[in-house]
Amino acid sequence: MSQPKLPAPGPGRSRQTQIFVDGLGGARPLVPVDPGRLEKAVRRKLDAPAYAYLAGGAGTERTMRANLDAFADVKLLPRRLRGSASRDLSVDLFGHSYPAPVLLAPLGVLELAHAQADLAVGRAAASLSVPFVFSSQASEPMEQVASIMGDAPRWFQLYWGTDEEVTRSFVRRAGACGAQAIVLTLDTTLLGWRPRDLDLGNLPFLRGQGLAQYLTDLHFRSRLDSVQLPAATPRPSPALLRTAASLAAHGRKFGLSLGQMRAAAAHFTASYTRPDLQWDDLSRLRGWTDLPILLKGVLHPDDAREAARRGMDGIVVSNHGGRQIDGEVGSLTALPRVVEAAGELPVLLDSGIRSGPDVAKALALGARAVLLGRPYAYGLALAGEAGVTEVIRNVVAEFDLTLGLLGAHSARELGPEFLA
Ligand SMILES: Cc1cc2nc3c(=O)[nH]c(=O)nc-3n(C[C@H](O)[C@H](O)[C@H](O)COP(=O)(O)O)c2cc1C
Repeated sequence: MSQPKLPAPGPGRSRQTQIFVDGLGGARPLVPVDPGRLEKAVRRKLDAPAYAYLAGGAGTERTMRANLDAFADVKLLPRRLRGSASRDLSVDLFGHSYPAPVLLAPLGVLELAHAQADLAVGRAAASLSVPFVFSSQASEPMEQVASIMGDAPRWFQLYWGTDEEVTRSFVRRAGACGAQAIVLTLDTTLLGWRPRDLDLGNLPFLRGQGLAQYLTDLHFRSRLDSVQLPAATPRPSPALLRTAASLAAHGRKFGLSLGQMRAAAAHFTASYTRPDLQWDDLSRLRGWTDLPILLKGVLHPDDAREAARRGMDGIVVSNHGGRQIDGEVGSLTALPRVVEAAGELPVLLDSGIRSGPDVAKALALGARAVLLGRPYAYGLALAGEAGVTEVIRNVVAEFDLTLGLLGAHSARELGPEFLA
C-alpha cells in the first residue's frame, strides 16, 4: 500500500530540526535565537557609540517600549483540526511575489555594526529572496549593493533633502539599480532628540559614516568645492584627530580629499532633510518615477486617506523604531485605523517586529507585510552576512510555525478572526 505523500516540512520545521540536529553535536545557533539575548550579545560586542546609535531611541524611549508593549497586548486565537500541514507564506506586492511577508527595513550607517555593512545584508537578503530596502543613509552605494544581489528584490528608501537635484538623482539611480519601489520616509524631517547619542556627542554622519549614497552622487559631489568651511583648529585634540582620520578613510574609499569630506559632512548636514515638505510636493516625486511610491511613517488615519487621494501606492505604518518623538503612539496600536482609512492601498508595518508571532499579529490587524529592523542589524553585528541570514530565517521559521499552529494555511488568510 502506498503511503500518503507528506507535505514538505516548511521553513519553520526545517529550521527547527536543523538547530536541534546540530545541537546533538554540541553546536549552537550562530546568533542567539531569543531576541532579548540577541540584543544583549550586541551590547557586549560593539563599542558604546555604535551600540547607542543602533539600539537607542528618542527621549526616555517610551515609544520604543510602546512598540513592544503593543505587540504584547495583542493576543492570537488559534483554531484546531484545520489540517494546516503546509503553509503558503508568500505575499504579492505591486506586481511582485515575495516568499514571505517580511522585508528588511532601511537602516542607515550599518558600518557601525560590521565592516561589510550593506554588502553583507544584500547578500543575505538575496540568498533568501527577501526584499532589502536600501537606505538613503547607507554605508555602501546602492549600485554596488544591487550588483552583488543579482536579480534579488530591492526597494529604495528616500530622504527628501533641500538639494532637490540630489533627491531626484537618488530616485533616478534607484530606478537604474532595479528598485521595485520607492519608500519616502516622512517622519525624519528633523532628527529626533536621542539622549544616548547626545550623551556621547556622537552623530556618525559628521565622521563621514552613512554617506555612501551622497558621496557617490555626481550632483552632491559637484557642490563640495563651494562649501564654506571654518578654519581648521591649529592644535587639534586626539578626538578631533580621530574624526579627521575617519573622514579621511571615507574620503579614500570614495575618491575625495579630507577637505572635500569636511565639505561633504557640512553640506549633508545642511541639506539632508526638508522640514517644510508638504503634500503638494509629492506630485513632483510622482513625476520623477513610475515606480510605486510608499509613504513611511504614517500613523494618523487622515494621512492615510490623503496618501490615497494623492495617488500614492502604499503606506508603511512606522514610528522609526521609537527614534523620533518620545511618547508617540506604538506602531501596531496605530495600524488598524490606518488600514481602515487606506482603503485599497497596501499597508506595511514596522517598529517592534521581533518574532514570527509579531508578523502574524501585524497581518491579522491588516498589514500586508512587515519590515524587520534592528534584529537584522544585530545579526550583522554578531556574525556578518551569516548572522543576518540566521535572524531572517528564524523570524520566518517562527512565522511559519505560528501559521501552522494557528490553523492557517497561508499568510493571506490572517485576519481578525485569529485574534482574541
Ligand atoms: C540604526 C537605525 C537606522 C535607521 N535608519 C533609517 C534610515 O536610514 N531610513 C529610514 O527610513 N528609517 C531608518 N530607520 C528606521 C527603520 O527603517 C525602522 O523604521 C525601524 O528600525 C523599526 O523599528 P525596530 O527596528 O525597533 O523594529 C533606522 C532605524 C535604526 C534602528
